Amino acid sequence: MRRAVVIGTGMHLPERVMPNSEFEATLETSHEWIVERTGIHQRHIAAEGELTSDLGAKAGAQALKNAGIAPETIDLVILATTTPDDTMPSTATKIQHKLGITGGAAFDVNAACSGFVYAMSVANSFIVSGMAKRVLVIGAETYSRILDWSDRGTCILFGDGAAAVVLEAQEQKGTSDDRGILFAGIHSDGQYTGLLATTGGVSSTMNAGKLFMFGKDIFRHAVAKMPAAVEEALAATGKHADDVNWLVPHQANMRILAGVAQKLHIGEDRVIATVSQHANTSAASIPLALHLGSQDGRIKQGHLVACPALGAGLTWGCTLLRW
Ligand code: COA
Repeated sequence: MRRAVVIGTGMHLPERVMPNSEFEATLETSHEWIVERTGIHQRHIAAEGELTSDLGAKAGAQALKNAGIAPETIDLVILATTTPDDTMPSTATKIQHKLGITGGAAFDVNAACSGFVYAMSVANSFIVSGMAKRVLVIGAETYSRILDWSDRGTCILFGDGAAAVVLEAQEQKGTSDDRGILFAGIHSDGQYTGLLATTGGVSSTMNAGKLFMFGKDIFRHAVAKMPAAVEEALAATGKHADDVNWLVPHQANMRILAGVAQKLHIGEDRVIATVSQHANTSAASIPLALHLGSQDGRIKQGHLVACPALGAGLTWGCTLLRW
């Protein structure tokens, strides 16, 4: 059976680091409050003129280098983003060009903070069906451009960044001990569109709008739907939470990560958390954590890795893969 196996990862963060203390000058908030409620200490913020495609192309280039493959062997680039450079063309095509890839196809996927999990599901379908052999999946975001910097309930939560994985079709036995993506579940329920959204968009206000959300409701949905998505993936593959070597959830808030792990009875020592350093980078957060966790030697070949996410839509899902 053809499986989509991760053969390389990469990341890129903007140079500027913004610590929590910077908010204290303009908002009624404190470093202590932010750390206690979210676990976030700092985030990276893109420079003026530094675009989502710049971050995504650098992350993609590093993933290709780490995979040891030439850019022209990629036959599909999927970019998960909610913050494209422009309304059109797709930011994926700009990244494709910046990477020197001239063949194949490229497109964007918008599922907000579930974007990476959605993109992995699409990539998996292309590979399993034989339509693609090597897919570059990138999560890249510049949420700093859509934040309301006067809203202390949202602007403290997000940061900019990008990360990428290269997936390659490899022939495996067809069991849940295979390497590669074993399950790629995605879900949405549009009745919740108003819980986390922007104040506008192309067709409604002719500008990008600013992000707003009902934080408590999102929190509640996240700690219910993310564990359920992991359980769905485990049930479909005949695995148990004890078999999971690493839980690598969307990095929204340390309390959400802890709540998801607790529901699954997965100890903190099996959770990869990067939210303290990057805040919520939306579609980039899971691949950032995967890259860092594999580079520092925690995620090893053969490990079972569960990546649940939840985002605006609402959208949610879980990629279960063996590294
Ligand atoms: N600093 C200080 N006080 C703040 C604050 C800040 N940055 N943000 C909110 N507050 C205040 C609120 O105004 C409220 O004050 P009030 O009681 O006088 O009205 C108080 O803190 C408690 O607010 P509440 O919303 O109940 O706090 P909370 O514990 O739910 O934490 C979030 C707020 C946003 C951190 C939390 O709801 C959350 O993380 N939600 C999930 C958000 C998320 O991750 N979304 C993206 C998912 S993809």
